[in-house]
Amino acid sequence: MQQSCCLRGVRKSYVRSVLILGAAAVVVGCSSGGQVGPQTKPYLLPIPSASELARPRTPEQAGLPAEATRAAIPRDNPQTADKVALGQKLFFDGRLSADGTVACSSCHDPVRAFTDGRRVSIGIKGRVGQRNAPTILNAVYNTTQFWDGRARTLEEQAGFPIVNPSEMGQPNLDAAVARVATVREYRKAFERVFRGPPNSSNLLRAIASYERAEVSFDSPFDHFIAGEKDAIDPSAKRGWALFNGRGRCTTCHAVTRGQPDVTTFTDHRFHNIGVVIVRAGTVGMARQAEQVVTPGDMGAVDRTAIQSDLSLLGRFLVTRQDADIGAFKTPNLRNLLMTAPYFHDGSHPTLWDVVDHYNKGGDQNDPFLDRDMQPLALKEAEIDDLVAFLASLTSPEYRKPALKELARQRKLARTTRPYRDTARAFGPKPGG
Ligand code: HEC
Ligand code: HEC
Repeated sequence: MQQSCCLRGVRKSYVRSVLILGAAAVVVGCSSGGQVGPQTKPYLLPIPSASELARPRTPEQAGLPAEATRAAIPRDNPQTADKVALGQKLFFDGRLSADGTVACSSCHDPVRAFTDGRRVSIGIKGRVGQRNAPTILNAVYNTTQFWDGRARTLEEQAGFPIVNPSEMGQPNLDAAVARVATVREYRKAFERVFRGPPNSSNLLRAIASYERAEVSFDSPFDHFIAGEKDAIDPSAKRGWALFNGRGRCTTCHAVTRGQPDVTTFTDHRFHNIGVVIVRAGTVGMARQAEQVVTPGDMGAVDRTAIQSDLSLLGRFLVTRQDADIGAFKTPNLRNLLMTAPYFHDGSHPTLWDVVDHYNKGGDQNDPFLDRDMQPLALKEAEIDDLVAFLASLTSPEYRKPALKELARQRKLARTTRPYRDTARAFGPKPGG
């Protein structure tokens, strides 16, 4: 672990990549902060370490959009190797949390494609949140961050979990900075990277730079799109056709300038797809949220989203438009086999469950349901094909565990299909 933490074996391709991603890695020493002692509480899991999978990734991957990647780096925070390395160190360091037990990596573990495998995340002192942790892989391409888009940039995003009482629980960012500043190696690294002592904006900049270096493509599907006809199997090819066709998936996952978006699979917009069962009470909850959340106060939105059952209001908390009640961000669809369970609330355990949800058209009684949700009348074999296509979006570093997970999900889906509703899937479409 110590050896991989130091990442001394910098490969040639990583060095070449510095221009784009600052992906060479030289880390700030190897002391791993915030290791928890004997496990007295079941939730006190050791902080995931910076294993091989935590390395900044090479930009030389099939499917990686070089120009869009460059364009996604903000001018006021250019990528450098030292900054990425500092950000990596911070991302895995429990010292950012109030009691030293939780790092960013506790909920964004590289072994699980930077997620936590839980339905909803757990922060300090075993505090349970309301939402499922998305991956930070390819978050560089997100035009907003969080399921409800309450943060615009990765810099802005990183400040929220540090001070959220149910996540890392610091009273303010300066408390995290003060803790970091007690460590000589950090002081040296901040001096080297930012020419000054640790402060909150540079701490967030370093973390964001590390996240921007975590790009993951090179999947069988990317090779297929690049012209290798046999890179994916016939079932995945049929799934890709359904994804564009009768599955209607590309209405949101997505079409850019008339072409399917094979890079991020998202329209970067917010939709209510009927995951939350919206009942009469929901509008009342919206009115309640208007009382407790000051307009434009994203700190208050963050606490509501993570700590309160008003969380299900989704994008509404940010925009206060009734049309956004229960709307969430269309997510990227890469490495899904590593990021189960699914949806903003982690309610759907397998990809078969997800497709069952779409097949029945979501919850058609939801007054705020997106117009593009309707029954799809997909047969079982077609559902399998869609899953095979989604599975083909797995990057090579996750190939083995993803195969295992696919087998696990397939087995589970053979006996347990809580979201399947064949009558509705093959029933009438709304309005006709
Ligand atoms: C206790 C678990 C937990 C910790 C600790 C945590 N996160 Fe998260 N993270 C989440 C959850 C849950 C969400 C989704 C919350 C939401 O959308 O309301 C999230 C969302 C994100 C997103 C948005 C991704 C997207 O696609 O919108 C990024 C980026 C991110 N976290 C990075 C970080 C960083 C950086 C840190 C450390 C400073 C961190 N997280 C600490 C659980 C956690
Ligand atoms: C109307 C827009 C829309 C359509 C159509 C749509 N999606 Fe989605 N998709 C979303 C949104 C929004 C979410 C997040 C919803 C939530 O969590 O509440 C999502 C989530 C997902 C997820 C879960 C990802 C994760 O990280 O949890 C998968 C998988 C998925 N969609 C696949 C598909 C497939 C396959 C189709 C076609 C059968 C499809 N989607 C059609 C908008 C859409």
